[in-house]
Amino acid sequence: MKALFCIFSGTGNTKRVGERFAEELRALGHEAEVYLIRKDAPEPDYGAYDLLIVGYPVHAFNAPSAVVRFLKKLPAAEGKSAYLLRTSGEPSKLNHAAGITPRRMLKRRGYNVRGEFVYVMPYNIIFRHSDGMAARMWQTVETRIPKDAQTVVEGAGECMRVGPFRRAAAFVVRVEHPAMPVIGKTFHASKKKCIGCGACVGLCPRGNIRMVNGRPKFGMHCVGCMACAFGCPEDAVRISVFNLWRVNGQYTFNGEPAKDEEICRYCRKMYRKYFHANEEDRKEKQ
Ligand SMILES: Cc1cc2nc3c(=O)[nH]c(=O)nc-3n(C[C@H](O)[C@H](O)[C@H](O)COP(=O)(O)O)c2cc1C
Ligand code: SF4
Ligand code: SF4
Repeated sequence: MKALFCIFSGTGNTKRVGERFAEELRALGHEAEVYLIRKDAPEPDYGAYDLLIVGYPVHAFNAPSAVVRFLKKLPAAEGKSAYLLRTSGEPSKLNHAAGITPRRMLKRRGYNVRGEFVYVMPYNIIFRHSDGMAARMWQTVETRIPKDAQTVVEGAGECMRVGPFRRAAAFVVRVEHPAMPVIGKTFHASKKKCIGCGACVGLCPRGNIRMVNGRPKFGMHCVGCMACAFGCPEDAVRISVFNLWRVNGQYTFNGEPAKDEEICRYCRKMYRKYFHANEEDRKEKQ
């Protein structure tokens, strides 16, 4: 099997999970390559692969607009197998709605969507998880991926069912897609903090930032991925109406995983359930 992972990732979580998944497929004797969905990336040779895995973070209970754009241009491939791989900041079932549009688009292009894999990774907006939470999330990813890779090898898997309430909620917040270019245009760099290093220009997967007189200037193509705000070494990017939700700086995934009592209070029950379900899997395997 030759698998192509096409991954959109603003702040590295989905890329990290996709790369780990690809590594697992290789360990099982298959070929796997990771392609990052970016405006400046050359098109991969889709015909050279017999399996497509599309990875992306959940944005407001939906797939990011960059992924929708990518899928619109994807060449047809009659009968080829595909999977979806998602990361999200919380293990809410509302996030399952983020598979609806990509599934439909892949199907229209002739793909046979065999299943979806969802992993919780730390938030890149709203609030910062502790590094302990990030480490526990990663531990769960490490537990799940061997099983999920085996599912892919067997051609098995399942798609998430989404009821009418969750569909409606996701539909309403999809306003993020048309709103983000307008909101993103009002992003700016703090005059006090910005050192004019230009790192944000390279981080933006949409080519939406250019340097003007030593300061970043934001265009009209923002998809709200938060790569600029998260990755700025000086935490200088101000994200307009979302500024109080700004998260800056890489997480550490290899520290001590948070214990049950250290799980963040926000949605504690949900996280516990998610961690415990996967830890049961690990115990069963041992
Ligand atoms: C604009 C935006 C909207 C988001 N909406 C959700 C959401 O609806 N549900 C959720 O659980 N996480 C949400 N998140 C969090 C991301 O899905 C999560 O942190 C993801 O792992 C980031 O992946 P990345 O590093 O590959 O970009 C959102 C993040 C952004 C930037
Ligand atoms: S990465 Fe930060 S410090 Fe560097 S140019 Fe961009 S906003 Fe300024
Ligand atoms: S401007 Fe920032 S948030 Fe918008 S697409 Fe570029 S990196 Fe992502």
